[in-house]
Formats: sequence, structure tokens, C-alpha cells
Amino acid sequence: MIRKFSFVLVLLFNICFSQNPLPLIPYPESVEVGSGNFTLNNQTIIQADANYVEAQYLQQVLKERTGFNLKISDKPVTTNKISFFDIIRADNQTSNGKGKYMLEINKDEVRLAQLDSIGNFYGIQTLLQLIPAGKNSQYNLPCVNIIDQPKYSWRGMHLDCARHFFPVTFVKKYIDYLAMYKFNTFHWHLTDDQGWRIEIKKYPKLTEIGGYRNGSMVGHYNDQKYDDKRYGGFYTQQEIKDVVAYAAYRHITVVPEIEMPGHAVAALAAYPEYSCTGGPFEVAKQWGVLDDVFCPKEETFTFLENILTEVMALFPSEYIHIGGDECPKTRWKACPHCQALIKKNGLKDEHGLQSYFVQRIEKFVNSKGRKIIGWDEILEGGLAPNAAVMSWRGTEGGIAAAKENHYVVMTPGDYCYFDHYQGDAKTEPLAIGGFTTLQKVYSFDPMPKELAPEQQKYILGAQANLWSEYLEDEKKVEYMVFPRILALSEVLWGTSNPAKYDDFKTRATQQFPIFDDKGINYSKVFLNQTATKE
Ligand code: ACM
Ligand code: ZN
Repeated sequence: MIRKFSFVLVLLFNICFSQNPLPLIPYPESVEVGSGNFTLNNQTIIQADANYVEAQYLQQVLKERTGFNLKISDKPVTTNKISFFDIIRADNQTSNGKGKYMLEINKDEVRLAQLDSIGNFYGIQTLLQLIPAGKNSQYNLPCVNIIDQPKYSWRGMHLDCARHFFPVTFVKKYIDYLAMYKFNTFHWHLTDDQGWRIEIKKYPKLTEIGGYRNGSMVGHYNDQKYDDKRYGGFYTQQEIKDVVAYAAYRHITVVPEIEMPGHAVAALAAYPEYSCTGGPFEVAKQWGVLDDVFCPKEETFTFLENILTEVMALFPSEYIHIGGDECPKTRWKACPHCQALIKKNGLKDEHGLQSYFVQRIEKFVNSKGRKIIGWDEILEGGLAPNAAVMSWRGTEGGIAAAKENHYVVMTPGDYCYFDHYQGDAKTEPLAIGGFTTLQKVYSFDPMPKELAPEQQKYILGAQANLWSEYLEDEKKVEYMVFPRILALSEVLWGTSNPAKYDDFKTRATQQFPIFDDKGINYSKVFLNQTATKE
């Protein structure tokens, strides 16, 4: 009788065990769970060369997580150790991005092995999520065998630091959040109508004047109310170098965005001579799309090229984002210079002029060995020859670009705009609009069905955008990011399964102690949302 009972118990345990996925996001490609545990304590040795940067990073994050001061040592020990291996071979380099790793946890040791140049960093992120929550004198990690790699090479998060300014301390925190969930691209929106946030040595007025506005919108745009508080700030070039290095240490590329020809009023407030009318202008207090844009004069191109030269010296990224979105043609239509330029170059209309503008900038950026990426409006009037497209007005722009053999990052509003509401607008903090639930993000597939296999390689990945008109402080940014970043993380890593949203939801909830430990302000509204059938 007793034996039978225990047999049933064992059976139940096994069923529970095999049905309970590990508390990991993004879920790895292949997971085997063994029996028993590895015990992590303050005697655990990080077995590596003291100069190995991933070992140093592991030491640092384990200290933050557990309080342990673990020793890095290359003196062989047989047990209670975390060791690193390189298994790098040419055929391990996946076409879609690097980051392949293996993580083996057995009773005696943790073995991290990378199969390309950056896999161990991602192995560390997985290991961190397997440490049970809370601060303890020791932690039992489950014995596992994991083999894992990313699907997409552009796993991006954007942050608009123009509408609201976020200090370097928060930008670094944000980069850490990206690293935790295996993102590799930080798109830093640095200029807009409401503020210019990057020091440019040749044009100091960009930040002296363009970095500050004399008031902001209060409440929703539709209320049309303003305060009169001076607001602003900017990043010095030294701070930018520091952020870029901080990100690089976490295998994150920072892609700067310098907006042109539209969203340029802050720059024009400082240098009105590069507009069509000559100004004067003030740094915008109002959100939205404004008529005053750069005028495509020779002097304007010189101005922008000088700016981009300083930008490219600060950011080593392959891509420089040049904006390109929401450029009204009102001023160009009424500007004698613009009209003469259209005629002289045999352009069809003002859309042709926008295309001319972007192509000139592209030529310059290409001449410095870099590439441009722009919002999908850069398709209008003809795409610049080597430009990549960030598809935000749905996925159509991205599909059109991929069909023309241009690289694409998908960031359609319905799935990837994390400034949208994630719950009922009546009870949520004020946002611009929209309705993008956690489940909606999780259901996103960056690869359009319309693309033939040979065109699919042009989809680099996807990105979420955090426009900050309504994100007035860091806590609000976190609230909009968490937990939706988890869903996008798994989509981009390639292991999302919308039919198993409930399983994802469980794992998302299991991240709460990590959020609490880090003091992250996150939304729980998804817990009360009825999942829709996929
Ligand atoms: C955008 O949201 N204007 C790219
Ligand atoms: Zn003009």
C-alpha cells in the first residue's frame, strides 16, 4: 500500500517536473533538465584567466545578485566552480547572428562554453536567471544541459531622450535591462523638435540653445495645455563615449539617431539659417509633426556632414540612423531654393527632394565606411542605394524594402510601440494611445509571410520603440518596458510560441522577483487580461 502511494507520488512529481519549464526568458532553443543541484556559495571559484572579461563580468553580476565576492582563479580545482570554454569553429558562426553557447550545470560544476565569439555572455545571462530569488547564503541551481543561440541579429530597444531627457545613470540601467534579456542593439534617439541632446563641438549652440525648451505639454496632446518650465539637458561627448563603452562591454551596439530632414526644430532654433524661411524658431514645446524642416541647401549639407563626422567618431556602429520620418513638404513647396533644386535635378516633386536629401547623406555616410538606416518614409521617392529601412507604419515598408534587397528592421506600431497602452486606458497611466498588450507583443512574427526564402535574409530583426512624450521619468519608462520587453526578447531569440502564451505568462511572472530585486517599476496588468486564442 505504502509503496503504491509513493509510486503515484513519484509519477506526479515527474509529470509536474516535465511540464514546468525553467524560469527562463528568452527560453533557450534546447533544454534538458537533469536531477540534483549545483550549490552556489561564497566559496565557488570562477575558473578562468583573471583578465578574461566575461569572467570579470560574471564576478560583478554575481556580486550584485548574491552579495558573494567570488574569486577568479585559473588554478585547477575539481569542484564548486564555474568554468569557461571556447569551442569556436568557423562553421559555428550562424548566418543570423552570434551568441551560440552551451551551459551545463551538474552537481560539481557549472560549465559555460561559447561556440562563437560572444556566446559566453549569453550563457551568463541564462545562468543568472537560474539562481533562485532572494538573498541567501547558498543557492541550489538545477542541473541542466542547455544549447542555445539567437535567431535574429538585430534585437533592438529604442529610447527617445529628446522629448524627455534621461541621465546617463538611467541610460546605463536601460542598457543593463537590454543585456539581461539578450538584446544587442540600443537605438538612441538623440535629436528632435523638442530637444537636441548630443554635444557637437563644431556647433555649440545645438546644445546651448537646442538643448532646452521653455515649456512642455501637460496632460494629453488633445488637451493642448502647456507649462512654462525650462526643460532640457544633453550628453557631453565624454558621456557618450562612456555609454558606448558600457554598452560594448555588454555586447550591445549603440545606434545613434540624428533626425533629418524633419523633426529638426531644436537644431533650427540654434541655427535658423539651415531652414527654408530663416526663422526665428524656438525649441518646440508641442509634441507632434512640425512644418519647419531642414532646407536642402549646400550649407545645410555641410552642416549635417560636419555633425555626422563627429557622431561617427563617437559611435562605432555599422549603421547610423538618420530619421527620415514625418517630414512635411509645406516649407519646401513654398521655398524658391527647394523648387529650383527640384527643377535642376529633374526631380518629380517634394518626395523626390526628400529622396535626394537622403541619398546625399547616404553617399557621405557610405564614404566614411558606414551605412544609413531610416524610418520607412525613406522609401518614398526612391530608396537610397544601400539604405536599411526601419518599418514602423506597419510591416509593409519593410516588405517592400526586402523585396528590393534592402535590409530591414521591423518595428510596426501595433506590436512594437511600447509607448502604447498595455491595459485599459481608463486605469493606466497616461499614454499616447494605442493598445499593445503583452500577448500582442508575444504574438509578433518579424518574418513576413510574403517574403520568398531568398528575401528573408533581409529581415535583420525587430525593435521596440519608447517615444517619450508621455514618459516623463525613469519609473514611467520602466513601467512601459516591463514586462513587454520579455515578450519581444523571446520573439527575437526565436523561441516564442504564441499558442503557448500561458506558459510564457508563467515564466514572465517568475521574473517578478528579479524586477523587485533591481527595484524595477513593472506592470502586472497582464495578469488580469483574458488571453485571446491564437
Ligand atoms: C515614428 O514613430 N515617427 C518613427
Ligand atoms: Zn527650402
